Amino acid sequence: MAHNRPVLPTRRPSIDPARLVPMDKIVRLKGKADFKVVFIGAGNIMFGSDEGPWNHSFRLEHKLGRRLKVDAIIDPNIERALSVIQEKCDMFVVSAYEDTRVFRTLEEYTQAMVNQEKPRAFVVGSPAQFRGTMRPGRDVEMQILRDFPGVAIFVEKPVATGPLSEIDDVFTVSKVLSESRTLCSVGYMLRYLRAVQKMKQIIQDNDLTVMATVARYATAYEAINKPDWWDKSKSYGPIVEQGTHFCDLSRYFGGDVDISSVSAHSLDWDEKAGRLSKMKIDESKIAPDNRIPRVTAATWKYDNGAVGSFTHMVALQGSNYSCEFEVYTDGYELKLVNPYVQPVLIIRQPGDDHESKLRFPDDDPFFSEISNFVDLVEDVKDSNSSPPEILSSYEDACRSYELSWAIREASERSRDDRLEALELAEPKANGKVNGVH
Ligand SMILES: NC(=O)c1ccc[n+]([C@@H]2O[C@H](COP(=O)([O-])OP(=O)(O)OC[C@H]3O[C@@H](n4cnc5c(N)ncnc54)[C@H](O)[C@@H]3O)[C@@H](O)[C@H]2O)c1
Repeated sequence: MAHNRPVLPTRRPSIDPARLVPMDKIVRLKGKADFKVVFIGAGNIMFGSDEGPWNHSFRLEHKLGRRLKVDAIIDPNIERALSVIQEKCDMFVVSAYEDTRVFRTLEEYTQAMVNQEKPRAFVVGSPAQFRGTMRPGRDVEMQILRDFPGVAIFVEKPVATGPLSEIDDVFTVSKVLSESRTLCSVGYMLRYLRAVQKMKQIIQDNDLTVMATVARYATAYEAINKPDWWDKSKSYGPIVEQGTHFCDLSRYFGGDVDISSVSAHSLDWDEKAGRLSKMKIDESKIAPDNRIPRVTAATWKYDNGAVGSFTHMVALQGSNYSCEFEVYTDGYELKLVNPYVQPVLIIRQPGDDHESKLRFPDDDPFFSEISNFVDLVEDVKDSNSSPPEILSSYEDACRSYELSWAIREASERSRDDRLEALELAEPKANGKVNGVH
């Protein structure tokens, strides 16, 4: 085990349901002072897109109202940053953006900030290859810490991009962040779902021990037309890029994973069953070694002995994903269905073979994670609820990142073994598997 890893508590923090207030019911944040925020990255996670419900600027606008001042947007794509500012200045949120400056790099912003009041928070939504290491150019957290000590950081998942062989670097970043006592939250937003918190509450109230987690994530691939998503050298594959949310949810309930126990299999592009008929991109332009698996199925042991499993599929058409996550304890089955769209929690408990269903309409975990982050930066104390909480700390997110990579690497090892065995059995096949060329 690497020396930089802290021992995390077995029970991950949960949150007072009173802190998961819907956006249209949120009470105005007290105070009048400007709340200066810097956005790093002017892309989809920050300003929204057709791809999903994420849009951090929109949530911050609702949380902070007229107090929000976006001090700067940092993005090498200046035109994209200017165009989103223009759009915002044409809307009712103009007061937050009318003085926003645009910089190509964080260094340029730092230089322009001499003798100026520091921002309250950085929101990092640039591609993951620019963060999560101690190496220049890929060390945005370290730059913020050096030039803006004490300023809070909200950073998107995944925390970095390097493989398991580079994992110590990520844990070093984590150690430096925690020793500096920097307030840092990572965008594993599913932890903030009301349904997920209900599952936590049932486990805590009944003092249950998790025996197994079962996760299933089926992507609607037809809707994914970003070529980079299909290229492992660019987006690091569907487990590290997307399935990582379910790796994190698994750890949120199961605790830490014995990484050496992770095993996995994949169905790949060059197998007959892995052929997809509705791909919108031209996969022949992606090098064969960089094409993504269609199915990845993994199992592992948690440190407490429980067993986790995860099956990720690039299989569905249309646009809605099909995702389910189950937790089993002695006497209980807690099944979370459709967490991204309309979360439903199906519960079976001792004394009744029938299931009960709880629905959580219009829940917005993106808002809850931003709302709790801002409340912590503001040090909000409220007599009606427990203190705000960061559910996904940087250290915890590093472990979820490690599990995600461990699954990818285990599936690649088993693919290599399979191909080697095939090669030995049929030397003439020469890399052509199951007749697919
Ligand atoms: N939590 C979630 O559900 C969720 C959803 C979407 C995206 N994300 C994460 O957010 C991150 C960004 O994804 P996206 O969809 O917004 O990507 P995007 O491609 O739409 O936007 C990224 C932006 O970052 C800019 N950029 C590139 N290099 C930069 C740098 N060095 N400094 C600052 N900006 C830089 C690009 O020009 C681009 O405008 C990824 O890590 C992704 O995994 C998380």
